[in-house]
Amino acid sequence: MALTNGGAATPAPASGGSNLVLILDYGSQYTHLITRRIRQLSVLSLCISGSAPLSAITALSPKAVILSGGPHSVHLPSAPSFPDGFLSYVQENGVHVLGICYGMQLLVQKLGGVVDVGEKQEYGKMEIEVQKESALYAADEVGGHQTVWMSHGDEAVKLPPGFEVVARSTQGAVAGIEDRKRHFYGLQYHPEVTHSTKGMETLHRFLFDVCGLSSDWKMQDVLEEEIKTIHSMVGPNDHVICALSGGVDSTVAATLVHKAIGDRLHCVFVDNGLLRYKERERVMSTFESDLHLPVTCIDASEQFLTALKDKEDPEMKRKIIGREFIAVFDDFARNLEKQLGKRPEFLVQGTLYPDVIESCPPPGSGRTHSHTIKSHHNVGGLPKDMKLKLIEPLKLLFKDEVRKLGSILNVPESFLKRHPFPGPGLAVRVIGDVTKGDALDTLRQADEIFVQAIKDAGLYDEIWQAFAVFPSVASVGVQGDQRTHAYVVALRAITSEDGMTADWYYFDHKFLIAVSNKITNSVKAVNRVVLDITSKPPATVEWE
Ligand code: XMP
Repeated sequence: MALTNGGAATPAPASGGSNLVLILDYGSQYTHLITRRIRQLSVLSLCISGSAPLSAITALSPKAVILSGGPHSVHLPSAPSFPDGFLSYVQENGVHVLGICYGMQLLVQKLGGVVDVGEKQEYGKMEIEVQKESALYAADEVGGHQTVWMSHGDEAVKLPPGFEVVARSTQGAVAGIEDRKRHFYGLQYHPEVTHSTKGMETLHRFLFDVCGLSSDWKMQDVLEEEIKTIHSMVGPNDHVICALSGGVDSTVAATLVHKAIGDRLHCVFVDNGLLRYKERERVMSTFESDLHLPVTCIDASEQFLTALKDKEDPEMKRKIIGREFIAVFDDFARNLEKQLGKRPEFLVQGTLYPDVIESCPPPGSGRTHSHTIKSHHNVGGLPKDMKLKLIEPLKLLFKDEVRKLGSILNVPESFLKRHPFPGPGLAVRVIGDVTKGDALDTLRQADEIFVQAIKDAGLYDEIWQAFAVFPSVASVGVQGDQRTHAYVVALRAITSEDGMTADWYYFDHKFLIAVSNKITNSVKAVNRVVLDITSKPPATVEWE
């Protein structure tokens, strides 16, 4: 069973629909977080667009539906809503519905209550008081205050028949409502956000005590289910190819497929001349010795660097790298076809769940297909005439879940925790022409010193990404008694949840002094080290 929604396929849940929580997305920035929080409680949750047709919802047969928050007002004619027939469907099938923020207002309005512009709009951390023992709150919470995360202008001023207020903000706004008989619940605040101190308890209560869900969604089952799916897709004589980047996603995806079909999987790792210090050797040794993956390593560095010569524009560099990658991959596939006497029919891709969700954006977001936002990140692509069928075994998973799966598959911990590395590699970290002088080698040495120092200091896992940048700027210095004219290196380290926003990492001064000294003492071409102290926004993570 596969549900298509807005062009993107959402695979059916591994364990059947009856223990599933379905999130209808109305565009809140926290929608993914609700999905993840529920999965953290070992319950499968899937997220689809809030404007998905009723058939998309019924096909999944969820036990509970959560209507997410969103930036809209229910008063606007364009306000997004669940499909016609939704309310009858959930009532006829005993499905529990929890509305969060906008989702609660939608529920109130559609069931005959009144939502109005609030007298006091509530944004940020607020206090609520629990007023009743109820489905959402335990007896010992009654009369107590909880800090919660609010973000609303409108508020429910008249509840539909059958509802009661079970919590209010200390300013008097309705914060929690229930109609237990018809299985409708609402929270005006965001229980999924950590600022809501008891939010997880409330979600826990809703899932297990109210909906009677069981916490039986386990990575081991996901693994077994995915292997079954691969067996059903790939025939006993079919061959599969996979381009490994050295990153977590493609490695875990390939390891899983290898477990399913063995050496009928053919992987390729391309050295494009833009890798980090000793990266090719390190990554290949993990593939071969630890994972026993059949990988062909192609040294295409000369081909890439020749094509990049004199090219300064970052987008042009990205395009060239993508084009060369396609050419190398095409060659690999053709050689393989000659060797095997038949064409490989499948391609493994490490697509993750956020990519699937983003491909069917919530109603009212003004986005039709958000893949375009990230298109500059997609290096490569595939030759158009290859017509490969896709195997995407991580399509249902978030990054942290991929790491868990990798761990079950014995992918070394050190590999699973590697910082992300962009597809175009060091080409976006050397400003301008990457082939000029010793830019790439200089950058590799400085980067290695910085990252190794971070590992030695035990800071690697708390930093999202750390790297050196070569701004291609020379500066005057003095080394010994000599004036020098050598290069500047910039250090960038950030913390982030998902790379979409980021903060720069606050190093201890002593650490920075030691790194700076080590770089200027051991990398001949560098006489100055600077630290990038910009968050994202306004800067991006990479310099190009
Ligand atoms: P930015 O620089 O856009 O980076 O703030 C956000 C995240 O994306 C990575 N990044 C890329 N990844 N191809 C990729 O595969 C690219 O062209 C690219 N540019 C940035 C970046 O390293 C960070 O993790």
